[in-house]
Amino acid sequence: MRTGWRKVAHRALELSGLIGPLHRAQERRLAQADVEAFDDGRPLPPAELRVLVGGAADPKWFSHRGRADAERFMDLARRHGSPFESGLSVWDLGCGCGRIARWTAPVVLNGGGAFRGTDINPRLVEWCAAHLPGSYRRNPLKPPSDLAPESIEVIYAYSVLTHLREGVARAWLAEMARVLKPGGLAMVTFHDDDYARAWGPPEAQAQIALDGYFVLNDALEGSNYMSSWTTRQGFRALLPAQLEVCEIRPGQLDAPVQAIAVLRRRTV
Ligand SMILES: C[S@@+](CC[C@H](N)C(=O)[O-])C[C@H]1O[C@@H](n2cnc3c(N)ncnc32)[C@H](O)[C@@H]1O
Repeated sequence: MRTGWRKVAHRALELSGLIGPLHRAQERRLAQADVEAFDDGRPLPPAELRVLVGGAADPKWFSHRGRADAERFMDLARRHGSPFESGLSVWDLGCGCGRIARWTAPVVLNGGGAFRGTDINPRLVEWCAAHLPGSYRRNPLKPPSDLAPESIEVIYAYSVLTHLREGVARAWLAEMARVLKPGGLAMVTFHDDDYARAWGPPEAQAQIALDGYFVLNDALEGSNYMSSWTTRQGFRALLPAQLEVCEIRPGQLDAPVQAIAVLRRRTV
C-alpha cells in the first residue's frame, strides 16, 4: 500500500500535471527492456506501442496472451450463439495495437462479417490500420462513438473499463446498449473481487468492499496509469436496463486474467 509521503508526493504530481511526462518516461524505459524474439507470422507493433497496452514490451506475452484472450472471447461468443465466423459485425472497443484483433479480425472477415476496432490513442489505431485486416478509427474518451444505433452484433472490450472512472465506464456500457442490435452480445472485462484479491494492491480490495468502485491513481484517465476496480455486484450496478447479464466469469486466481461479463441487448 502506498502510504505517507509517497502518497502525498503522488497526489501532488497528479494535481500539478507532472505525472503525465513522468508516466510517459516510465513507458519509454519499459519499451527498451530486453525481450525474447517471437514470430507468430504477423507484424508485431513496436515495443513502445506494446508497452502502451500491456505495460511491458515482451512480444511473446503480447502474442500468446493476445491469442488466448481472443480465443476466450470467440469461445464465449460461440457458446452464447454468436460465433465470430458467422458473418457478424464485430467491434473491438479499446483495441490498442491489435493484441486481440490480430487474431479475431481475420476470423470475422473470412466469415463474411465486418470488423472494426477503435481506441482513444491515435498512434495505436494508426498502427492497426496500416498492418491488420479490418477498419480502425479513433474514438473519444467519453461516448458517443460514431457508430449508428443498433448496427453491431458483437462488442468486446478487454481491459478498457479498467482504466476509467465510474461515470465514464457507466456511459460506455450505455453506449454499447445503444449500438448493439437487439439480441447482440457485449463481452467486457473488469477487475473484480477475485482479481483484486489475487493481483490487486491491498487498498483496491479494501476500497471496493466499502465503496463498490475504486480508482487507483486518479489521473490520466484511459491510460494504464489509472486503474479501476469493482466487485461483480458493483459491476452489475453500472449496467443500463437494456443489457441483461448472461454470465460473469470471475477473475482468475492462478493467472492475471480479468473477470469477464457476457451481456446481451434485450430484444424488448
Ligand atoms: C490495457 S489496454 C488494452 C488494449 C487492448 N484491449 C488489449 O487487450 O490489448 C487499454 C486500452 O484502452 C484504450 N482506452 C482507454 N480508454 C478508452 C476509451 N474511453 N475508449 C476507447 N479506448 C480506450 C487505451 O488507449 C488502451 O489502448
